[in-house]
Formats: sequence, C-alpha cells, structure tokens
Amino acid sequence: MSPLPPLTIIPAHLQTVADYEQQSSQHLAESTWHYLQGGAMHELSVQENQIQFQDIRLIPRHLNDFSQSNTRVNLFGMDYPHPIFLAPIGHQALFHSQAEQATALAAELMQSNFVLSTLSNTHMEALNKENPYKWFQLYWQANREKSLALIQLAEQHNYKAIVITIDAPHTGIRDRERKIFFQLPNEMPHPHASVDLEIGNLAADEHPIFQGLMKVAPKWEDIEWLMGNTKLPVILKGVLHPADAKKAVECGISGLIVSNHGGRVLDTTIPPLIALQKIRAVVPVSYPLLLDGGIRRGSDIFKAIALGASAVLIGRPYIYGLATAGALGVAHVLKILKEEFEVTMALMGTTTLQEINHDFINQ
Ligand SMILES: Cc1cc2nc3c(=O)[nH]c(=O)nc-3n(C[C@H](O)[C@H](O)[C@H](O)COP(=O)(O)O)c2cc1C
Repeated sequence: MSPLPPLTIIPAHLQTVADYEQQSSQHLAESTWHYLQGGAMHELSVQENQIQFQDIRLIPRHLNDFSQSNTRVNLFGMDYPHPIFLAPIGHQALFHSQAEQATALAAELMQSNFVLSTLSNTHMEALNKENPYKWFQLYWQANREKSLALIQLAEQHNYKAIVITIDAPHTGIRDRERKIFFQLPNEMPHPHASVDLEIGNLAADEHPIFQGLMKVAPKWEDIEWLMGNTKLPVILKGVLHPADAKKAVECGISGLIVSNHGGRVLDTTIPPLIALQKIRAVVPVSYPLLLDGGIRRGSDIFKAIALGASAVLIGRPYIYGLATAGALGVAHVLKILKEEFEVTMALMGTTTLQEINHDFINQ
C-alpha cells in the first residue's frame, strides 16, 4: 500500500506520542518506517530505552503553592520555557517534503531547541537566522579543517551551540536495514557533508574498520583543538561512561548528552537513565547533562530530571509528528509532551525544575 499524504489538520484521535507513532506509519514507505524504528542488532537497547522509564516509580508530594510555578530552564546562558529539545535526526526529507525546515519552524514556534544534523537535507543557512532555538550537530569530518569549517558556518548563521556526536564513529550493525536492503535515495541532497567519509585505499593486510573509519575518527586532542577555535559552547553527545564524562569536564566541554543514539549504534548498552545517575555523581553539581532515548511521556521527562538531567531531547517522537503533519505535527507532539510534563509536575507537587530531585523517586 502506498503511503498516505501528510495531514493538514490534526484529527481529534491524535492525543499521545503513541497515537502519532501509529498514525505516522501510514504516511511513510515501509522501508523508511523500518529505518526510523530500527536499531542495532537485536534492538534490545531500542526496547530498553522505553522500559527504563516504565520501571521507575514516583513518590508524589501534595499541598504546595503553585502560583509562581513554571517549567523554565537556563542552559549555556539562554532561558528556555521548557526542557524538551529536538535531537539531531539526519535525512528528514525521508519523512516529509519540507524536511528540517518544518522541524525548525515548529521548534521556533514552541521555543524548543532544534539540533540540526550534519546529515540534514537542508543547509544550515536555510533556517531562519533570527531564530535563537537552534544548535548544530557535528559528525567529525575526517580532518580538523573540514570539521572546523562546518562549525564556523554554524557560528555565522547564528547557531547557539555545537553538539559533537561521538558514539557513532562507525554505523551500527542494523539487521533490520540490511534485511530490506535499505538505502538512502541517490538524489537526496546532503549540503554539509557526504554520507560516506573518504578513507582512502587500504593495504591488503590492514583491518577495514581499525585502519578504515576508525583511523579518521576524532580523538580527545581533536575535540580540544576544535574547542580552542570556537566561542560556541561545545556539547558531547553519546557519553555513557563516567570516566569519559570526567574527562570531558576536565577538557572544558560545556555539557553532555547522555545517550545511546536511540539504540541505533551499539546494542545492549547501559540504559542512558542509569548512565545519567553514574555520571551525575562525578560531575560538578550544576554541570549541564541532557538525556535522550526512549522519552515518550511527560512523566518520562520528570523522571529524567529527577535522576539528574538538566533537560531532555526527543528523537523518533517528533519524526512521528513530522511524517504525520509536517511542522504542525512536530509542534503538536511538543505541545502534548509539554502538557503531560506540566501535569506530572503539578501532581508530583513540584513547582519548578529545581525542586525535582531524587527524593521523588522510589529506588
Ligand atoms: C532516523 C534517525 C536518525 C538519526 N540521525 C542522527 C544524526 O544524524 N545525528 C545524531 O547525533 N543522532 C542521530 N540520531 C539519534 C538521535 O539524535 C537520538 O539520540 C535518538 O533518536 C533518541 O532516541 P529516541 O528516538 O528514542 O527519542 C538519529 C536517530 C534516528 C531515529
């Protein structure tokens, strides 16, 4: 069956992220659906990312005064009205003809930070320069000069931070994609970088991975060099080990995204929510830690903040909105999660993000 065209109005039955998930499957080609939903190997981490929230129990408090309450957060010198950001997702033309333009528009409207991927189909200069709710995500470009050139372009076009994704120097082994021979369309534009990095020819006795992609992967020295060449905050995405978190703090990295890439790179990683707690224990008290992976409800956002997150990112949920109804769908998904989060805060008796802490979790 060919996919349905995107909707132009939101029908009343779309009330949760799960509703959007179901609806969006009707608007996407089957191979695109598997690309979006899938992950590495057995996809245990994909599943566990959602289970990690379902396993946690809340302990509410009551009778607080809510007259001054809000969901505001301040990160890297900027105020955000809520802590729900949009994670970098490449190739968004797969999901809707307006691709990243639609996502950025919805993010701006909802004052949610959008992280534009290196592998976007939309050039970073095509997004509204005045919109302050945008960061750029860098996939290391095999050498320092090419990587820095992208960062400088982001600076010129008013992106407010650089997110360097460090957990995917090689693509994950995605059985699902391999089985259906998933390939990106040949004609798909990638204005910032080619999808495949150039690694040159290998000698017969060289390892195709170690002397291939891993040879051009970034190292700590490269990240430090980049930081020395930009004034923007640099955030590392994909950190799970507390020792890496400690090292990042020592190097002067501005913040971390605790993430397993939505379970798409390495299967059976530590759940990001557990990693978050281990990392929170070794970094300075107010050090920015963002969390992504598996967030589907406002109560998940509450749990992430209670366990040490400063803010969260969503990936697949906003793509469900994009595929269903373009910018309107993305904005609606954000609105749903924001409202669910506010209701959770109210029912938990917490009036600001600063009040949300471990005491509200039964562990
Ligand atoms: C289709 C797809 C494409 C992605 N592309 C990127 C990317 O270009 N760069 C990146 O850092 N992460 C990428 N990610 C990972 C997301 O940024 C994020 O970590 C993940 O989706 C969070 O999990 P969730 O989908 O359960 O919310 C991608 C994820 C998906 C599902």
